[in-house]
Amino acid sequence: MRLASLLLLLTACADQPLDEELFAEIAALDGDAEAGALVYPDSCASCHGEDGTGGHHEDLPGKTADQAIEAMLTGPWGMPAFDAQFDNQTIADIAAFVETL
Ligand code: HEC
Repeated sequence: MRLASLLLLLTACADQPLDEELFAEIAALDGDAEAGALVYPDSCASCHGEDGTGGHHEDLPGKTADQAIEAMLTGPWGMPAFDAQFDNQTIADIAAFVETL
C-alpha cells in the first residue's frame, strides 16, 4: 500500500525529460531581461512571488539563467513546463530576468 502511493507520487512529480538540443538553442539566445520582466508577473509570480522569494517555493534570487531555462523546459517537482506555452526567445527573456532577481 505504502509503496503504491509512493510510486504514484513519484510518477505525478516526474519532470519532463530535458530536451538537450532545445536547451542549447535557448541558452545560446540573447535574453532580454526587460521583456522577461513583463511576462514573469503573470506566469511565475503566483508561485515564486513578485521578487522571486515565494515562500514555500524555491527562491529564485541566485538562480542562473541556465537553471531557469532548464526549469521552464522540464517543470521540476510540480512546476509546470512552459515549453509549449512560450517560444524560445520568451523563455530566454524570462531566464535573463530571473538572473536579475
Ligand atoms: C505552479 C507553481 C509554479 C509556477 C507557476 C512556476 N514555478 Fe518555478 N518552481 C516551482 C516548483 C514547485 C519548483 C521546484 C522547487 C524545488 O526545486 O525545490 C520550481 C523551481 C524553479 C526554479 C529552480 C530550478 C532549480 O534548478 O533549482 C526556477 C529557476 C524556476 N522555478 C523558475 C520559474 C519561472 C521562470 C517560472 C515562470 C515561467 C516559474 N518558475 C513558474 C513552482 C512553480
